[in-house]
Amino acid sequence: MQTVITDSPEEAAHYLNEGGIVAFPTETVYGLGAAICHPEAIERIFTAKGRPGDNPLIVHIADPGDLMKVASHISSDAKKLVLHFFPGPLTLVLKKNSSVPDSVTAGLDTVGVRCPSNSDANAFLKLCRCPVAAPSANRSGRPSSTKWSAVLEDLEGKVDCILRGKPSDIGLESTIVDCSGETPLLLRTGAVTIEKLQAVVPSIRTADSLRQHEPPRCPGLKYPHYAPDARVVLLDTGERIDPVTERNSAYIGLSLPAAERLALVKQCHNVDEYARVLFDFFRLCDSRNISIIYCQLPPAEGLGRAICDRLTRAASGH
Ligand code: TXA
Ligand code: MG
Repeated sequence: MQTVITDSPEEAAHYLNEGGIVAFPTETVYGLGAAICHPEAIERIFTAKGRPGDNPLIVHIADPGDLMKVASHISSDAKKLVLHFFPGPLTLVLKKNSSVPDSVTAGLDTVGVRCPSNSDANAFLKLCRCPVAAPSANRSGRPSSTKWSAVLEDLEGKVDCILRGKPSDIGLESTIVDCSGETPLLLRTGAVTIEKLQAVVPSIRTADSLRQHEPPRCPGLKYPHYAPDARVVLLDTGERIDPVTERNSAYIGLSLPAAERLALVKQCHNVDEYARVLFDFFRLCDSRNISIIYCQLPPAEGLGRAICDRLTRAASGH
């Protein structure tokens, strides 16, 4: 199959409305979309990515007013979060309605919904005739794509069309909050930080506080994620940069590393830049056959918490 690359939201939406699968930019990472009214296109997303079928997809809407197209109930806490953070990098898990097929939700009775703020995403979603289920547009397990060229690298010949946009502003996937139960629960950290969420809904809990007594609520988090081919080594674990491997190693962090012969060094000026460039840096390292990527953990607060989460998963190959 030939993958068409276009700058036109109209052309991209045409492929999607005809039952195709289309990658598109968002402010978090690029998504790989299929219309929820085309179940065979949903199946193709799982095949193209090599994604396990029990990992549900997030549904994307053009306007917060479209929520009831996929949800059956919106709690009062969820309404507050919508008012403050939609459109933007937040996904809400809500009770689903019957228009959402089981293949999208992996058989759960809930659906993850997000309304992106990126203007290309918004123009595209407005032209789509039904809501768009979209995981991140990478091969399963690989770092998410934050540039259209990364989508092409992973999925050329497997998707019908790529809507070419700017690199993603944020660079990490959306924050996910489960609002389907009594108390809202943070399932995945992201640019809408726990501090920002608690300012709006103080009762919100983190999934860590549940882990001992309940099964994981975010099916995707049990799979390997964000992993470059290179080994990721975290730099607050006491592990030093090994002088022997230094020449074939890379470094990313907020301060400069204590090593001189590294093949690649990226110093980020703040956590926003760290989040924005991280996955692209992983891909660059793989293209240069780097064997170890040393990653400095930022302070685990605000967006730093989401960076630490992704780095820890990348380092554990999990
Ligand atoms: O920023 C993002 O969220 C990007 C862009 C494209 O919107 N999408 C994204 O999708 O990161 P994906 O598939 O890579 O990650 C979605 C995560 C998975 O871990 C999945 O298990 C979880 O969301 N998820 C989806 N629906 C869910 C549900 N109903 N209940 C719990 N977790 C859900
Ligand atoms: Mg993903």
